[in-house]
Amino acid sequence: GHFWLRGRRPDQPVSFDAGTGMWNVYGYPEALRILGDPKTFSSDTSRMVPEIARPAERSLTQLDPPMHSKLRKLVSHAFTPKVVADLEPRIAALTNELLDTAADTGRLELVADLAYPLPVIVIAELLGVPGSDRYLFKQWVDKMFEGSQRFSLVNRSEEQERNLEFVMEQAKHLSDYLGEHAAERRLRPRADLLTQLVEAEVDGERLSQAEVVNFANILLIAGHITTTMLLGNTVLCLDAQPEQLARARADRSTLPAVIEESLRFFSPFAALSRVTNVDVEFGGQQVPADQLLMVWIAAANRDPRQFADPDVFDPSRDPNPHLGLGRGIHFCLGAPLARLEGKVALDILLDRFPHLRTDPDEPPLFLPSPNMTGVRKLPLLTS
Ligand code: HEM
Repeated sequence: GHFWLRGRRPDQPVSFDAGTGMWNVYGYPEALRILGDPKTFSSDTSRMVPEIARPAERSLTQLDPPMHSKLRKLVSHAFTPKVVADLEPRIAALTNELLDTAADTGRLELVADLAYPLPVIVIAELLGVPGSDRYLFKQWVDKMFEGSQRFSLVNRSEEQERNLEFVMEQAKHLSDYLGEHAAERRLRPRADLLTQLVEAEVDGERLSQAEVVNFANILLIAGHITTTMLLGNTVLCLDAQPEQLARARADRSTLPAVIEESLRFFSPFAALSRVTNVDVEFGGQQVPADQLLMVWIAAANRDPRQFADPDVFDPSRDPNPHLGLGRGIHFCLGAPLARLEGKVALDILLDRFPHLRTDPDEPPLFLPSPNMTGVRKLPLLTS
């Protein structure tokens, strides 16, 4: 479980877990060292799990320099902060539409009514695929997460092997779906991100079909489940601290800081993985080459060596150098979108529901995954 969320801390910032065959990294300085040194700590975890290695389809998150820099430049060309900023009115309109549909019953299920559909419709519309297809994505992505839990490098059970196959199948459904749309845009360009990705050119280089599909894939997956968690987590944090909720209500200019503290306090992405390229000593341990590291940013974000009173939700932390969106060359490309969606949706929620609070008779349900911190169901009372 999320033991660091209960205020307990591991004795060691870095330790080997014989049960999974992986190293756990819990400390802030140790996490910072890893994320800042891609030469030593590679993102190419696919080489540890040959079943999911798809070398022909280069995926941004799993690339190291110099390939990473090239691909990141190409996709950043299409997915710019300006493209994101222009979405603000649409995000607000969608939030209101979704809440209109759900309103007037005195209750809200935050995830199903808003936190899930909002980011997935936004990213689907941005890419240029119908938002109404979100039931397809949800089905595939939910099954992918279900199947990829409890993954281990050693002693993989038959069930885990089947899970892996199942995950690959779901990933293929999603890739095929996006591949059809991307191929269509090559023939008939439109005003959407898929077309821009197909046409993006840096130094005479373009993305291959596989690269476009892969990136669209990352956006769809990374772009919705995490923001869903961010919204749910932020509402939970505020609900638990009435004085912070009152402050946020009274002064909406504090919302960005509330979102940042929520990213620290309840990091949706609890862990990032890296592989050691060489033998390396850190956190008091000798780690050989070719070891898989789980970098628990959720734990690092509560390291008392970095954050005073780490188990207190305090939006007035300044600075707040949390690792919730990563750090270094792989820093979340969707950060401006996640922050904007979080701010706009929270602002409208506070406007429309002056009495918003959790339902004592129906507690939230958390995602079962150890790598993800978030709710999958959050019943709220609105009156
Ligand atoms: C990378 C978290 C929302 C797209 C990352 C990383 C983290 C992260 C921790 C670093 C991964 C690593 O270093 O291995 C989050 C959280 C989000 C969020 C907590 C919401 C609250 C989004 C959204 C999008 C997105 C909305 C896109 C629409 C990406 C991409 C990368 C990434 C493309 C890979 C960047 C690279 O490898 O260069 N995200 N993310 N994320 N994120 Fe996000």
